[in-house]
Amino acid sequence: MFVLLSLLAIVQWVAASSCPQLDLDFSKIADGTSPFDIGFTDVWCGQNAIIQGGKMDLSLNKKCGPDISTNLNVQSGLFEVDLETSWGSGVVTAITLFSAGTGEDKRDEVDMEFIGTDVTTVQTTYFVEGVHVPGATQSVDFQVASNTSTSRHIYGMEYTPDSISWYIDGRKVNTVLKKDGVPFPTKPVDLNLSLWDATEFSEWAGKVIQILQIHPDIYETSS
Ligand SMILES: *[C@@H]1O[C@H](CO)[C@@H](O)[C@H](O)[C@H]1NC(C)=O
Ligand SMILES: *[C@@H]1O[C@H](CO)[C@@H](O)[C@H](O)[C@H]1NC(C)=O
Repeated sequence: MFVLLSLLAIVQWVAASSCPQLDLDFSKIADGTSPFDIGFTDVWCGQNAIIQGGKMDLSLNKKCGPDISTNLNVQSGLFEVDLETSWGSGVVTAITLFSAGTGEDKRDEVDMEFIGTDVTTVQTTYFVEGVHVPGATQSVDFQVASNTSTSRHIYGMEYTPDSISWYIDGRKVNTVLKKDGVPFPTKPVDLNLSLWDATEFSEWAGKVIQILQIHPDIYETSS
């Protein structure tokens, strides 16, 4: 097998805040609808994000893995994604809250990430202006009750001016509170959904052996 095909099935996604609000239930959206006609922005490899069978599938293949984003600019809100993760060495499934800007901007970020070699763990982290908060635990891991690549769960992140909370199936697993004198994310964010090959980045998620064999095609995913 030289192409690693992966599935990310998002059945329902709610970005709830006083304003704006978006609630996508893919079971009510026609097969073949473009994600980019219903509120997503194609950041990278949008051709690999397909709505079919009541869900949206993201796939990583030898060309690239998708990164799609909302365009809501949410200052405070709850983001929930119902998903089945990908699996396999090197593959990362990520749900990210990311502030606007370009490469040089110091962006705020809150993450839930799943590495394909450890499909029962979600890794959570956050960044303020592009860096981890000095002294804070960099990544906090939580166990999910079952193999996340074969079972759907609802993963949530709540972003408010004075707290960030992470949820698994509606259960709050962690909260970080804003404290005086400690950097805290404050910028309006959007939700990104992505599936990427971390092989070049580090060995954190393992190596995509199959894809390395057809190097350099895969590196079209690198930005
Ligand atoms: C998220 O999407 C934005 C566009 O809205 C893009 O600029 C950014 O690079 C993406 N970030 C991640 C971590 O996927
Ligand atoms: C999780 O499911 C995937 C896909 O069926 C399988 O390849 C993997 O071995 C499973 N891992 C565990 C720890 O159950």
